[in-house]
Amino acid sequence: MFISNYVAKFPDAQGAIHYDESENDVWHDLFQRQRSIVKDLACKTFLEGLDIIQFPENRVPQLTEINAALGRATGWGVEPVAAIIPADEFFTLLSQRKFPAANFIRRREDFDYITEPDIFHEYFGHLPMLTDPTYADFMAKYGEMALQASELERHYLARLYWFTVEFGLINTPEGLRNYGGGILSSPSETVYAVRSDIPERRPLCDVIEALRTPYRIDILQPIYYVIESFSELYKLLNPELLDLIHEAHQLGDYPPAYPPLDEAQHDIVC
Ligand SMILES: [Fe+2]
Repeated sequence: MFISNYVAKFPDAQGAIHYDESENDVWHDLFQRQRSIVKDLACKTFLEGLDIIQFPENRVPQLTEINAALGRATGWGVEPVAAIIPADEFFTLLSQRKFPAANFIRRREDFDYITEPDIFHEYFGHLPMLTDPTYADFMAKYGEMALQASELERHYLARLYWFTVEFGLINTPEGLRNYGGGILSSPSETVYAVRSDIPERRPLCDVIEALRTPYRIDILQPIYYVIESFSELYKLLNPELLDLIHEAHQLGDYPPAYPPLDEAQHDIVC
């Protein structure tokens, strides 16, 4: 069972979430560092999303201002939740264009690495991409599809989420770029994922490969899957994907490139 080291934050009656000075300072320092790192390493869609959202620099963003910006762009919004929520609730929110997000911010001692998703990961990592109409449609359709899927199918859909929404790369005219929120909220992985010679990079077009690839949540990824466009992601979500999932299940997983975690931890989507 997952036990959080943090206390979830929720809005008060006026819709405000309260952060103290040290929490605002942590946001400022995380935001300043990461904004500069992503400049040449994130895809154009993500960078344009940052411009659209206009995160404040000196304080943790408020839900109301973020929802206004996202709502204008694509009709999406943020739903404040505790760090880990049941799968049904998670997929229902996505299908309703509500991104489930934890609203606490990491403590200074967890500045460089935090195992559970905090507001910096959720907002900075994920929300810029949700300003893009095609990506926004993909995320909502993913929620709809997962909601109707069996438990087995959800296990594989969670893998697809991991290799796209969290750790996806895209080929662009400027070169390989990051779009996954797990990468783009991590300074070291933002550089490693597109520049290092260590990880393997495979095309996502052969999706059955990704479906058969186990992953770990607590290391720099040894394998990334690369797309050519965001419409490729949207088109992937069709009934044929369920056939491929069952085929992947029949064929079995590839051996992990590292010691696997417990099966229970494979099912975490963040
Ligand atoms: Fe995430």
